[in-house]
Amino acid sequence: MALEQTLSIIKPDAVSKNHVGNIIARFEKAGLRVVASRMQHLSKAQAQSFYAVHSARPFYNDLVSFISSGPVVVLVLEGDNAIAKNRELMGATDPKKAEPGTIRADLAQSIDHNAVHGSDAPETAKTEIAFFFKPEENFGKMRLASSNNSCSKPSCCMH
Ligand code: CMP
Repeated sequence: MALEQTLSIIKPDAVSKNHVGNIIARFEKAGLRVVASRMQHLSKAQAQSFYAVHSARPFYNDLVSFISSGPVVVLVLEGDNAIAKNRELMGATDPKKAEPGTIRADLAQSIDHNAVHGSDAPETAKTEIAFFFKPEENFGKMRLASSNNSCSKPSCCMH
């Protein structure tokens, strides 16, 4: 099994409902380790940049408004197959289609307010982790080489 890191965002709906501890406990119980974390309120520009891959989708403006509507908790999770394991714990994007017992089935209301975000692939994980965290803020066993790329524009990330 491959040791991986992945980015998790606990979204404003889950933060406002006091689900932060519940969600982190699920990660830890499944063998994932929190190796970086921060609570922050994304600006609209930061939200647009983070979700730029969805900019052509009809839900983009609502997604940007929602993710910048209140504080989020951003985490780097590390563990064996962390990317797939996190996605399994989250469940399907639409909570109505998520397996019972998953975070989204248990704690989310709708596809728009779906409690958590998680990286979907190794390259995405590298880019998303580098968006939020400097290498020295990442206390995992593996330091991602990507931490020093993806920063070509001053507005592209948090540092
Ligand atoms: P997330 O995993 O954060 O990635 C993009 C988000 O867009 C997704 O979770 C959903 O909250 C939101 N979204 C809204 N509508 C859709 C849709 N039709 N398909 C995919 N994602 C959607």
